[in-house]
Amino acid sequence: MNTNFPNTKQTQDIDLTALFSKEGRRSTEMEDELSGLSYDTSDEDEVNEENVDVDAQRKKRNRFIGNILIYSGIAIFVVLCIVTGVLLFMGQNGEPIKALRFEEQEVTVRAGHSVKLNVLTEPGNVEYAISYSVSDENIAEIGTDGTLKGIKAGEATVTAKSGNVSSECTVTVERDSISAFEISESELNMKTGDEKEIKLTCTPSDASDKNIEWKSSDDSVVKVSNGKLTAAGSGEAVVTVSDTVTGIKREIKVTVTDPEQAESISFNEESITLNVGDSYETELTYDPDTTEAKYSVFYTSDQTIASVDEYGMITANDVGECTITAVYYYDDSVTAELKVTVIDPLVLTTSPEETEPPETEPPETAPPVQQPSGGGIETINGITYVNGIMIANKTYSLPADYDPGVQDDAINAFYEMQAAAYEDGISLYIVSGYRSYDTQYYIYWDYVSSDGQAEADRYSARPGHSEHQTGYAFDLNSLDQSFGDTPEGIWLKENCYKYGFIIRYPKEKESVTGYMYEPWHVRYLGKDIATSVYNSGLCLEEYLGITSKYQE
Ligand code: DAL
Ligand code: ZN
Repeated sequence: MNTNFPNTKQTQDIDLTALFSKEGRRSTEMEDELSGLSYDTSDEDEVNEENVDVDAQRKKRNRFIGNILIYSGIAIFVVLCIVTGVLLFMGQNGEPIKALRFEEQEVTVRAGHSVKLNVLTEPGNVEYAISYSVSDENIAEIGTDGTLKGIKAGEATVTAKSGNVSSECTVTVERDSISAFEISESELNMKTGDEKEIKLTCTPSDASDKNIEWKSSDDSVVKVSNGKLTAAGSGEAVVTVSDTVTGIKREIKVTVTDPEQAESISFNEESITLNVGDSYETELTYDPDTTEAKYSVFYTSDQTIASVDEYGMITANDVGECTITAVYYYDDSVTAELKVTVIDPLVLTTSPEETEPPETEPPETAPPVQQPSGGGIETINGITYVNGIMIANKTYSLPADYDPGVQDDAINAFYEMQAAAYEDGISLYIVSGYRSYDTQYYIYWDYVSSDGQAEADRYSARPGHSEHQTGYAFDLNSLDQSFGDTPEGIWLKENCYKYGFIIRYPKEKESVTGYMYEPWHVRYLGKDIATSVYNSGLCLEEYLGITSKYQE
């Protein structure tokens, strides 16, 4: 008995075939028969021969069925393609379009806008079978659904086509300009300086191609730009608004009057004291109350002490005093002044106690008069004059309340010298001018606290002893001894006497003047005396025969 599994499997196959021919038998009976056959091997050879024959037949049949399936699939696909093509050609309803025409043969559209072109067909409702083209795509574009978009003004032809039938539509593209407009004002009263925006109402409101021109009959009365009017000065003028495409014009009659001006202006305070680094917002009062034109320009007398911006905001830069001046814009004879004292809070709170006691304070009374070798000394109101020249040095001090401000003749002489220097390509400017007793007090003690008194005394005057308090002295350009070697420093040394100035603390005269070389510090003496001092080659102390020494 052969019990190999492969043979057993073959046996089962044969019996299955046999079983399939026994119609109507229950599966349990079939299973019984199967199991019986599986183990019955008495006729094994006969069965194997029959198996080979049946298998070949079965394979042949399967191949045949497979081929039929593949070929019929291809055939169905080809038929479907043909039907789809025919349907597309014939139209949705399966019939070819026999006739078509545009609903409108002439259409107008604005550039940038779109319109749907309708096509009537026979039979109807077959739009997707229609193709569109346009003769000039610079003028208009047409979409696959017949939507026409205007590109720029001009004419073009749109063609709708289906099979052998077609239709044309003449398209006119117009500029997207307005056909009418109105303005928000036709008469205006304005004050000089006022601005007014004029609104336009255009038809159609969405037109993008507007060609509006604005013109003023008199720019000195009213200026106009893109609908914005600015009242420039009193008078009457007409503003014309016109559309250059349609030629439509509108006019605005404008009357401009000057706003009521101030008669006087004043700061809310007369003087203020600021710490170095502080900012302070000034407030100006315009009188009378009814003043409409409120605009002033601000200046500082000394940028290094305090600066001021166009809104009157002051910034304290360095210890000292200066004056902020407001000048009324509409009348420069109307001014206001604010005295600004800038202090260093550290120096104020520490220096006098930490460094020198009050014995370094200036004497309240005039110092003893010494007879100069060169002429008479007189003291008037505590101020020492030698040969008529006001003197402030280490020997001679000024009263603490002597507060003249910058002297007119000195500042005017400086301006004259500045202009002459400018002609020679030399730029001169004041970095420190008039300094009051108080300002000098802060400056001096600040130096003492940083360098010690002995050193500070070599370059900074004690309060009451500074020439800056006379109002006749200026520090120019740079507080550095190298300034003396610059073109500006050289020009100053060689020319300042022509305008009434001397270099007050020349090189190598410290033992006489009491101060180190200061090529930037000039003293006004008037042209005659300055020229005489210059020609003498002496410093002022030598020239006048006086000393410069503290009484210690
Ligand atoms: N630097 C000069 C001497 C002054 O302080 O007045
Ligand atoms: Zn100086």
